Amino acid sequence: MSASPSPADRSESACTGADIRLEHVSVAFGEHRIVSDINLHVAAGEFVCLLGPSGCGKSTLLNLVAGFLPATSGKVSVGGRPVHGPGRDRGVVFQSTEALFPWLTVQENVEYGPRMCGVPRSTRADAARRYLELVGLGHAGSRMPGELSGGMRQRAQIARVLVNEPSVVLMDEPFGALDAQTREVMQVEVDRIWRATRPTILFITHDIWEAILLGDRIITMTAGPDATFKTVAPVSIPRPRELTAPAALELYRDLREDIASEVRRTLQAQGLVREGLVREGSARDAAA
Ligand SMILES: Nc1ncnc2c1ncn2[C@@H]1O[C@H](COP(=O)(O)OP(=O)(O)OP(=O)(O)O)[C@@H](O)[C@H]1O
Ligand SMILES: [Mg+2]
Repeated sequence: MSASPSPADRSESACTGADIRLEHVSVAFGEHRIVSDINLHVAAGEFVCLLGPSGCGKSTLLNLVAGFLPATSGKVSVGGRPVHGPGRDRGVVFQSTEALFPWLTVQENVEYGPRMCGVPRSTRADAARRYLELVGLGHAGSRMPGELSGGMRQRAQIARVLVNEPSVVLMDEPFGALDAQTREVMQVEVDRIWRATRPTILFITHDIWEAILLGDRIITMTAGPDATFKTVAPVSIPRPRELTAPAALELYRDLREDIASEVRRTLQAQGLVREGLVREGSARDAAA
């Protein structure tokens, strides 16, 4: 299945993003075929969430766009330029809350990218302060990472990515290590920051509600090997979103069943469960 935004999905407001394009992309590690014939177009400034069973190849796709991994076949481009390796136009937010340099202050961590690019001291300090303010850490620049909570560290990591003003932000389960309450706060923050800065975002999550809260489109993947896209769901609920809206509940049920059916298929193929012995809810719980 191929995934492209309709013209109506594209925002009219100012955006700093670049589009992402994957054309007939496949990845194999030796004999192991991971993803197959993936076609994806993420419009400039669009927020796309990727959901799928564990091990289906979500991070693999994100790593292709980040330039950490070459495609076995097919083309990957960002802003019309082929991706041959990592670049400053793409920022990656990892799951780990340990991604900051522990020997630098929060402010120095955020200044690190611009410093490496030779940005003068006062300019980069101003930029770092601005992005720390944006993520709600204006007061914490002089602290060391070890003095921050997990949620604060994840905000600092986001500031450290955004200060480079990337046109594409790649987020791989960025809130996976956070507790439920902090996670909710971070979801609202990311929605706010994205609307303020409008980069293109590719966001991987296992949390269906998180995807509904954030995505312009939600793409589900089949279980591997040879995984591909299963469903592409545009989310038309106005932002900031209310997850109690009937449209959100309906979308949640559809996506949950979509992924649960893939999880059930994999478990059955592996002989881990037999038809009739799988509780309906158990595979669903595994997917969510
Ligand atoms: N460098 C590698 N060498 C060999 N196999 C790999 C490599 N990286 C990933 N894989 C395999 O590719 C498959 C997809 O991995 P990937 O990390 O993309 O899955 P995922 O969908 O992100 O899973 P999760 O939801 O658990 O993070 C897995 O079977 C994994 O074992
Ligand atoms: Mg992953």
